[in-house]
Parts: sequence; structure tokens; C-alpha cells
Amino acid sequence: MTDPKAKTIDTLLSEIRTFIPPAEFVAQANVADPAIYASANEDWQGWWASWAEKLQWDRKWDTVLNWNLPYAEWFVGGKLNASVQCLDRHVAAGNGERIAFYFEGEQGDTRELTYSQVLRNVCRIANGLKSLGVNKGDRVAIYMPMVPELAMTLLACARIGAIFSVVFAGFSPTSLKDRIQDQTAKLVICADGCWRRGKVLDLKTVVNEAVAACDSVTNVVVLRRGGGCTSAAPATARDVEWNDVFANQADTCTPLAMDSEDPLFILYTSGTTGKPKGIVHTTGGYLTAALATTKLVFDLKEEKDVYWCTADIGWITGHTYIVFGPMANGATQVIYEGAPDFPHQDRFWALIEKYKVSIFYTAPTAIRAFMKWGEEHPAKHDLSTLRLLGSVGEPINPEAWVWYLHHIGGGKCPIVDTWWQTETGAIMITPLPGITTTVPGSATTPFPGIEAKLIQEDGSEVIGAGGGYLALTRPWPSMLRGLWGDNKRYEETYWSRFPGKYFAGDGAKRDENNFLWILGRVDDVMNVSGHRLSTMEIESSLVAHPSVAEAAVVGVAHEMKGQAPIGFVILRHGYVASPQLEQELRAFVGTEIGGLARPERITFTPELPKTRSGKIMRRLLRDIAEGKEIGDVTTLADPNVLKGLQAEFVKHD
Ligand code: WTA
Repeated sequence: MTDPKAKTIDTLLSEIRTFIPPAEFVAQANVADPAIYASANEDWQGWWASWAEKLQWDRKWDTVLNWNLPYAEWFVGGKLNASVQCLDRHVAAGNGERIAFYFEGEQGDTRELTYSQVLRNVCRIANGLKSLGVNKGDRVAIYMPMVPELAMTLLACARIGAIFSVVFAGFSPTSLKDRIQDQTAKLVICADGCWRRGKVLDLKTVVNEAVAACDSVTNVVVLRRGGGCTSAAPATARDVEWNDVFANQADTCTPLAMDSEDPLFILYTSGTTGKPKGIVHTTGGYLTAALATTKLVFDLKEEKDVYWCTADIGWITGHTYIVFGPMANGATQVIYEGAPDFPHQDRFWALIEKYKVSIFYTAPTAIRAFMKWGEEHPAKHDLSTLRLLGSVGEPINPEAWVWYLHHIGGGKCPIVDTWWQTETGAIMITPLPGITTTVPGSATTPFPGIEAKLIQEDGSEVIGAGGGYLALTRPWPSMLRGLWGDNKRYEETYWSRFPGKYFAGDGAKRDENNFLWILGRVDDVMNVSGHRLSTMEIESSLVAHPSVAEAAVVGVAHEMKGQAPIGFVILRHGYVASPQLEQELRAFVGTEIGGLARPERITFTPELPKTRSGKIMRRLLRDIAEGKEIGDVTTLADPNVLKGLQAEFVKHD
């Protein structure tokens, strides 16, 4: 027998057409009987209620669901506190000494925190928040790196009923400011900095710049990351030190009994316009779906697994699958601050070996980077504790899937390719690892109780094999309850394309075996390294530069990132195209929105392809950028524009 690790991707691809859950896995699986789908579908409200019953309610609900399309209320009349689900009940059950977090800083500093310790810290923070005048319903914006205090801050807000809103600590001052202003946050909590690839990232300077224009903010709490990681930014009048406000507080705090439908958090995500959408999630339903999906999709055995989700808590994946799902289940998890390639390209594998990680959840863009760095890095480490792998954020190409299975999963770990969104709050389409025979590249079937359909342009449903727009056709407990302050946009974005159905914005196909394959966004949203970016947002940022008259941005296929933004720019009179200006514009977008949004390249052009009504035809720009045959041009006002543009684009190479 040849060593499977020596096989090429092509060989692996030709050999692995399907993956049948190994008998050893099935024998211990949380779900081993496919009848779960039929029973959950038959009484889907009852199915979700059976999960809600596993939570600790201060008052039980009267009604499982009120469905006033498109507004849902779940577990109506019920009262509970989210932090109690994640902390108190585990301590009360005698599991207070279980490790909640193994934290590893990028520089190698480590901390272990038990559930009891986390509970005490969360209470201190909650009491400190109250001392700063934060009340139920107030908004708290959080701009912090991946340290345990971030997770604890979320739980502390939840304990006193404050609505938290995490802004990924890679966003620019302008993006942070917009988000703080949109929710009129009362408090901002940040760290002064964090480590990234051996360098200090200065977060405080970003926060100073952002809050300068935010009148609603009464205080900025600053956590000192420590360990030589400091910011040179000056303290401002509103600043208070984390330790001064939180460290000396009492370590108990009575949790507030929240209504099941009270908002838990707002999380901003990119839409098709320049303005990000504040997705609102509430308490009871969100926790129910987080609890159920974590337990079943990851086959979690909280008493023995070590779970590691590599996402940042600044994204929905970190909210649901670091903080609320794993912690509601009482899991032990790894939190890592820094980059996967620091100090070496084997850092993740070293961490898996060190902490004996058994469940590992990451993104295809990371897997493609690992492939590029080479299998010698994972091969140096003992990864035999792994028993389940997960993927999220973008379609996983079959090459990455088989590589992941063999080089990380030792050929034995089921892979769960999980499709979901900030809006859905929890995993919607996924294998169940003990029963689904998976196929590389397919997210397979809806989670029990979820109904997904493919819809054609004319609104009719695709029956059997075929392609269409992905829609969810039943309410589910963790669905978004609306957009912060903008119900009209909520109704238009999600519920008007196909009335009565939730329009996800993704295209998908169904194969002969009833498996779903997510094809990607069908709107002007691109997916760069698993993160959502709006074309419009980048375009508005470009035109804010004095040299730019008009700009068009498209997301084009990129080997590593899945997609990458490419810009086409018409300059104003008096400005001359040059490589320097291109670099300046790229950097400009980086500082306006954040590094993720920086265009891969920018082509200067005297004109853009437009329809007779003046709409930019981005589809044609994408064809040019991907070197494809140019599609249908009959609606173009002036087909000659394309030739010049194509020549310009190629010249740039
Ligand atoms: C994409 C991330 C294919 C999709 C949890 C969706 C995926 C968007 C997958 C949501 C997957 C997420 N396969 N595509 N397994 N998971 N997507 O809100 O386009 O950051 O609409 O939530 O990511 O991104 P968001």
C-alpha cells in the first residue's frame, strides 16, 4: 500500500468520490439514525421546542412561534438569560472546573480559564458595565482582538441585557464610526492592540479616530493587551481603563431575565448598497439553534472534546460557534490570537497537537493557504486526536476538501461543509457527520427542521435536479429579526424577490441524490477569503478619492481567496494614470474600509461598459478580469468600449 499522504490531489480526487462515515465514528455519534430528518420535518416547531427545553428558562414560553411573515417571534412569553445558558448552569451542574478556554497568544503567552473563572469574570465585567451607566437595551460596540476578554465581554453584556455589537478589529476608523453611529452605541470597549505576525496592531488609534465623531458614546473602555503590546495613541477624555472599571467589581451579578425576543446583538454585514446592514438577533431562538446545531453538526461531546473554531469573534461564525453554541453546550475550546503562519507555517498544527484538539472548524481560504504551504507542515505534528473537521464561509473546492480530509483528517475524519449566513444565525445546510455520506464540494442537505428550496427566475420551484436561487421556506429560531432601524430594507432585501420565502442571495444546484451545491452569491456581494464585501461599498470608497470620477468593482475568481476585488476607474480631468496612483487608490480603500477590501488591482480606463440606460455591466468586467470570452453585449450602449478596456487590462499584466 502506498502512503495516502504521498498521493497527488488528482489521485485523491479520482479515488474519493464519496466519504462514508467510518463505523467507529458512527458507533459514538450523537446522531446515527437518519429518521431524525423525517421526525423533525413532520413537527418542526416541536423539534425546535425540544431543543429550547434543554435551556434554562426563568419562565417557560406560552407559544412556540408567532409567524407574521416576514416577522417571527419564537418561544413567545419565555424568559431567560443568555449568559446563564453558557455559564451558570454548567457551574450549577458541577462542571465549574471544566476548562472553557485554552487561550494562546501569538507570542506564546497562554492562559487557561475554567467555567467558574469565566463566570466570575463575566460578573465583574457586568457589574462594571452597570457602574458606567449601561442599562438594558443600551448598545455596546466592541472592537477587540481574539482574547478571552472578548468572549467574556459579550456574555457580560448579555447578563445585563445590553445589546452588543462586535466590529471586526480589522475594520477601518470610518467603518467603525459608521457602525457606532448607526446603532447610537453608548459605550465602546476596545483593546489597545494585539499581535499579528509578530507585530503590534494598534487598535486604539483606530478607535480614537472613529469615536471622535460619535456623540452617543459616553465612555471608551480600554483593555491593555499587555506583553509588550501597547498603543502610542493618546488617552482621550472619555477613556477608562479596563482594570479600573472591571477588576475590583464583585464577582457575582444577578442575571437579568430577558424576554425570549429581546435583542441579544447586532452584527453588521455587507449588503448590495454602500451602507452595511445591522443584522438583529434575539435571545431564545438564537440560543436554541446555536445549542442544537453545535451539538449535532459537530457531534460534540462536551465532557471530552477539545473544540477549535479558527474564526474571529468579529464575524457571525465566532458569535455562534465560539461563544454561544459551544459555551451553551459547555464545551472546552481553544482560542488563538494570531496568524496561522507565525512564527512558522505549522502554528495551527502545533496547537492541535498541544491542546489535543478533536474538532476543528475553519474556512476554505485557510485550507487553500495550508495546501500552498505544503503538507510537510501538518506532517510534522501528531494530529491523531482530530475526529471531525468543518468548513464554512465559502464554497469549498473538491481539491481543498480531499486535501483537508487526507492531510489534516488522516483520511478518517468526516468533514462538515456548513452553509449559513450572518442572517441565519446558525448552520442551515450541512451534513450530519454520523449519517451523511458526503461528497467533496457539496454542503449536502438542510439541517433537520430547515426547509430549503431552489427557485427559478419566474418564482417557480425547481423540482428534482437543477439549479436556482437558494431560498429558505420555513421560519427557524435563529433567523434575523430585522435590520437595525430599517425594516423596509429588511423586507425588500430578503422577502420581496420571492414573496413569502427568505431569499439568501446565493445560487445553488441540486444533484440527482438531492444534495445541494452552493454556487456563490448572485448579487453584488463578493466573498473574499470567506468574508462578505459589497461591490458598492468599495466603489463608493474609490469615488471618495479626489482623483476618481467613476469606479466599477467586481469580484473575480482568485486561487487563494476564492474571490478578489478588482477595480476599474475613470480618472477626473487633470489626473494621469500611473502605477503610483494605482497603489495610492488601493491603499486608500484599505484605510477607508479595511485591508480585506483593498482591490487586487485597478485598471484605469476612459470609459466603462454601460447599458443604454447607463447601468454599468459588471458581468462584462468580470469576463475581462477573468480572461473569459466576453458574454452577451447586445445591450451595451457602445460595444467598442470593451475592446479598449480589454487591451488596457491585458497591458497591465
Ligand atoms: C457564503 C458566514 C458555500 C455564502 C457563516 C453566504 C458559503 C455567505 C458557505 C454568508 C458554504 C457561507 N459553502 N458558501 N459552506 N458558508 N457561504 O454572512 O455566499 O459572513 O451567503 O456568514 O457566505 O457569509 P456570512
